[in-house]
Amino acid sequence: MIITFATQKGGSGKTTLAIAFSNFLVLEKKKKVHVYDYDFQKSFYSKFLEDKDLVDIPKLYDVDVVEEEELKLERIYDMKESEEIFIFDLAGTLDQRYDDILRYSDCLVIPFEYSDVSAKSTLVFINFTSIVEITTEMFFIKSRYDKGYNYLNEVGMNEAINENINAHIIDCPVYKRNCLQTINTRELSKNQKYAVKPTFEELIRKINNSSEIKVKI
Ligand SMILES: Nc1ncnc2c1ncn2[C@@H]1O[C@H](COP(=O)(O)OP(=O)(O)OP(=O)(O)O)[C@@H](O)[C@H]1O
Ligand SMILES: [Mg+2]
Repeated sequence: MIITFATQKGGSGKTTLAIAFSNFLVLEKKKKVHVYDYDFQKSFYSKFLEDKDLVDIPKLYDVDVVEEEELKLERIYDMKESEEIFIFDLAGTLDQRYDDILRYSDCLVIPFEYSDVSAKSTLVFINFTSIVEITTEMFFIKSRYDKGYNYLNEVGMNEAINENINAHIIDCPVYKRNCLQTINTRELSKNQKYAVKPTFEELIRKINNSSEIKVKI
C-alpha cells in the first residue's frame, strides 16, 4: 500500500504528519512501514539520520531518499500490492516528476490550513490534480488548527474541497501544539499521541471504508 503526503503548500505540516503517522502505524497499529523522502530538502531523511543519536530507542522503520530513476512504474505496482505500508513525503511544489506517485498512490493525505494563502494553494493543488486527471482518493487534514481562532473561510473552503468527488475532509483537526514541533522518527510521546490519535483513527477508518481503495490498513 502507498500513502503519499502531498500538497503544493509549503510548511503545511506534511513532514510532521508523515512522521507522526508512520510512528503511529508502527507503534499503535503494529504495521510494517517503509518511508520514502521525495523532497529535495530531505527533511524526513535528515531527521531520521539525526535520530540515530537516540541509541537507546530502536528505529521503527527505514527511510530512503527516492532516486528518481529507481521509481519505475513496476516498482510502484510492487509497493501497491505489498502488505507493507509505503509512506511518501513530497515537497511543497508541483512538479511533473511527482505525477506517477500522485496518480498511483492508494491515497493522498493533504494537510491544509484555513489561512487565505494556504487556502489558495490548496485549491491550486486540487485544480492541478483535476487538470492532469489524477483521480487518487484525497484525505484533507486540518493542520496546525488553532482552537481559539475564528476561520472566516472555513465553510467556503470545505465546500470547495468537497466539490471534488475524490476528496474527503477529516473532521477532527490536528491542533497547533508545541509537542509536534519536536517529533522524532522513533517515538510518539504521550502528548504527541494525544495530539494525533483522533485524527489518525478517523483517517484510517475513512481509508478502510473507501470502496475506491482496494487495500486496507
Ligand atoms: N500541529 C502542529 N503544531 C505546531 N507546529 C506544527 C504543527 N504541524 C507542523 N508544525 C510546524 O510547522 C512547520 C512546518 O511543518 P512541516 O515541515 O511538517 O511542513 P511541510 O509541509 O513538510 O513543509 P515543506 O513544504 O517545506 O516540506 C515546522 O516547523 C513544524 O514543526
Ligand atoms: Mg516537508
